[in-house]
Amino acid sequence: MATWPPHRGRPRYDFGPNTETRMATTITDLDTYLDANHDRRLESYKALLRFPSISALPEHAPDCRRCAEHIAGELRAIGVEHVEVSETGGHPVVYGDWLHADGAPTVLVYAHYDVQPVDPVDLWDSPPFDPAVHDGRILARGAADDKSHVHMHLRATEALLATRGRLPVNLRFLFEGEEESSSENLDRWLENNRERLKADVVVISDTGFFEGNIPAITLGLRGLMYAQIDVTGSPVDLHSGGFGGAVENPANALARIIAELKDRNGRILIPGFYDDVAELSPKEREAFAELPFDEDAYRDGLALPALAGEEGFTVLERKGARPTLDVNGIWGGFQGEGTKTIIPAHAHAKVSCRLVPNQDPDTIFELFRARVEEVAPPGVRTTVQKLGGGKPSLTPMDHPATKAAARALEATFGRAPVYIREGGSIPVCASFESILGLPVVLFGFVNPDCNAHAPNESMVLDNVELGIRAIARLWDELPGAGIGG
Ligand code: BES
Ligand code: MN
Ligand code: MN
Repeated sequence: MATWPPHRGRPRYDFGPNTETRMATTITDLDTYLDANHDRRLESYKALLRFPSISALPEHAPDCRRCAEHIAGELRAIGVEHVEVSETGGHPVVYGDWLHADGAPTVLVYAHYDVQPVDPVDLWDSPPFDPAVHDGRILARGAADDKSHVHMHLRATEALLATRGRLPVNLRFLFEGEEESSSENLDRWLENNRERLKADVVVISDTGFFEGNIPAITLGLRGLMYAQIDVTGSPVDLHSGGFGGAVENPANALARIIAELKDRNGRILIPGFYDDVAELSPKEREAFAELPFDEDAYRDGLALPALAGEEGFTVLERKGARPTLDVNGIWGGFQGEGTKTIIPAHAHAKVSCRLVPNQDPDTIFELFRARVEEVAPPGVRTTVQKLGGGKPSLTPMDHPATKAAARALEATFGRAPVYIREGGSIPVCASFESILGLPVVLFGFVNPDCNAHAPNESMVLDNVELGIRAIARLWDELPGAGIGG
């Protein structure tokens, strides 16, 4: 078997003595093609990364559209059909299909082309939309999350169609432009496009490998409830000498409210919050415990004096299978240098909860609002608004497509994947199940130290190169996997 981690440079394969001859020949052709096109491929990745497709910022809406058009052009160029930049009411999705594998399964492939904002931009080593290659990595906003996967799917399809003139499965591509903004319009688009989304299985490529860059299949994703708390006092700032002591301070009030939401042991103090939480079975806890996880290395990697979290749970359980409540931003009052003696007129916080099966974001928001109103002091006005949300999901480990994905990873990366639950959220995962009734496999290749959403986002190029081969390999595995067609 190949060594781990794979060496830098040209990826190596060793499929072992049991590999079918048919597979060996076709993969060799594919390999030759991919080797011959390495430089052009890297250029195409860079071209994709140059679009500042930040979905959250209205001034970048034209860039999102240009990026969608670019991907559509790429799909057409490699031989994908019925390509369309399709309106959602927000940033468009890109759809395309190739449906000539008679009798073979149909896969709906999902990834997102939008990216997170880049601030603080001065902490980047190079401009976020001017991709730079260093030490086997490519550095840019979106290099990992999630343009790496858009790129890998385009290039895997290109290589298969160029070398064989056909694909082993039917593919429908769906590239979204609003994932980083809570996929506001996607559910409706799915509902209105059921016909052209008919498939046997969905492959979502928006996850990554386990600590140490170990191949992984993600089975669980957390959901999200995102809210804002606004606390207002007197209409303008007050002199803290003239009024301090006689009035409630909105910033103090906000701090008190937040402190009443979670105790020192990491337990969330919202009545009813845990009612729908699916507790971990002993078997599930065993699976977490068996993962090769070094807590000290994890803490050191984060440069933290200590880790924190809910009492009674391990680190991996806390971030994979337990809900959270975190302040994402808090502001109000004087922020400048020096001193200013005021009672601020208002204070604000953005607070979000990561949710686990079977918590529902709308229910959790109502409980959250009720708790904030309960603990808010009477001398200020406190309002709570919902800013977004998404449902958690758990995908099955024993689905034939998941097993095929595991074989594809092992054959390509030389190591069987571990099965993990991720703390992040991909709300559309639950939508594919609930709206389209389709099973989902999470098939992603991002290195865990990729700095997603942070300055200096980067993607390990070996993961990209091997990921392309693994995707092609998965398509080759599926026709015989027993998932319909
Ligand atoms: N790709 C991530 C989700 C993810 C994070 C998967 C970590 C695996 C590990 C996705 O782009 C993301 O950032 N999602 C948001 C969702 C939110 C905007 C609704 C998140 O998790 O914060
Ligand atoms: Mn993503
Ligand atoms: Mn993201």
